[in-house]
Amino acid sequence: MDKLALLKTQQLPRHIAIIMDGNGRWAQERGHDRLYGHLHGVESVRDIVEGCAELGIEALTLYAFSTENWLRPQQEVSGLMDLLVSTIYKEVPTLNKNNIRLHVIGDQSMMPDHAKAALAEAIELTSGNTGLNLIMALSYSSRWEIVEAAKKMAMDVRSGKIEVEDIHQDLFSQYLTTAAFPDPELMIRTSGEHRISNFLLYQMAYAELHFSPILWPDFRKEHLYDAILNFQGRERRFGKTGEQVKNEAGC
Ligand code: IPE
Ligand code: IPE
Ligand code: MG
Repeated sequence: MDKLALLKTQQLPRHIAIIMDGNGRWAQERGHDRLYGHLHGVESVRDIVEGCAELGIEALTLYAFSTENWLRPQQEVSGLMDLLVSTIYKEVPTLNKNNIRLHVIGDQSMMPDHAKAALAEAIELTSGNTGLNLIMALSYSSRWEIVEAAKKMAMDVRSGKIEVEDIHQDLFSQYLTTAAFPDPELMIRTSGEHRISNFLLYQMAYAELHFSPILWPDFRKEHLYDAILNFQGRERRFGKTGEQVKNEAGC
């Protein structure tokens, strides 16, 4: 069965967020060290980015490295950071060919200077693209982001740029690193773990969650299509009753 043909093109999520998990276990199952899993995870990233671009998805956020991941053994941290930054940089021609615009969210202050410079250049080189927005969450955590947003808002109140009374949910969103994008409608986590691990906590208030048992290095377009098909089969109620939702849809 061609899963792609089953997708309803009018009901695609505008923004998909993925927690790419299971690289370490994938490598260990094969008797290799964890970095070998991260290396193979890059293949999955390529396939899924291409898949989202082909579908015409507006935004794809990939959780590649959390602020908590800095706590891993030094050798894994530096190997993984180097791999991520060098891969992003090397992929720029492909991103440009596919009209994909790169964004990076996260606490860049924790990154080495050469990594910051390479990322800034990659972002700049893809800034004219108008297709898929590829948002790499690197050294990212949602609590960090929310606290940063609160600080910036407090400073804007202090300087008179905004009033306390102006603060509402939409304004709050504008202070988050994802301000330019719609909230994720579908969140996928691979490797059978059922948790959010400090990812887009504010933005995912109404995301549909899809947990896949596949380890990230094995995750391919067909698994993405499964997740989207599953998403399209759900009734999104946003607090209303199922009956209200059906009436509004004219069913
Ligand atoms: C996901 O794979 C990649 C990162 C978190 C950077 P893991 O490295 O967490 O793999 P497991 O969960 O240990 O298998
Ligand atoms: C979450 O994965 C972060 C990324 C995928 C980058 P982890 O594997 O680090 O998450 P926990 O710590 O097991 O929840
Ligand atoms: Mg993990």
